[in-house]
Amino acid sequence: MKVMKRDLLALAAAAAVIVVLIMVTVREKAKPVPADEKHRAFYEAMEKGGDRIEVERACITCHHSQAIPLPKKHPPKEQCLICHKLNKTKQ
Ligand code: HEC
Ligand code: HEC
Repeated sequence: MKVMKRDLLALAAAAAVIVVLIMVTVREKAKPVPADEKHRAFYEAMEKGGDRIEVERACITCHHSQAIPLPKKHPPKEQCLICHKLNKTKQ
């Protein structure tokens, strides 16, 4: 059977959809950042239009292997705020 270019394109499109679906599922599972004293500075920084990459760099000052370890099965952990959304409705 001859593999058509169109078939490959369809396959690539399907693969892309699956990857996006997985990303969305992982994000849904992540709990939002608590809106408490410890995390208030991050809410304020983002509200002031802070750069997400810059802001989340500080997360690991507390969330590292000694102080507050992440769960063992934690997904790749750069860019915390992509998955852990800041709570829009502050408690
Ligand atoms: C000052 C130290 C500190 C910093 C900095 C910090 N955290 Fe936390 N974080 C904590 C502590 C302590 C807890 C557990 C108790 C709590 O809910 O406050 C926690 C809990 C969490 C939780 C779990 C919430 C839950 O429901 O179990 C998430 C998610 C989280 N932090 C994400 C972040 C992200 C993302 C950043 C960076 C934007 C960040 N934290 C920065 C101290 C910190
Ligand atoms: C790819 C998405 C993703 C990224 C990026 C990410 N996380 Fe997570 N995080 C998750 C998911 C999903 C869970 C729940 C894991 C589980 O239940 O096994 C989680 C769990 C946690 C928890 C424990 C909350 C609980 O269940 O009690 C903390 C704390 C946390 N993450 C902090 C961080 C910090 C800090 C960063 C950045 C250094 C980060 N995460 C980056 C997806 C992500």
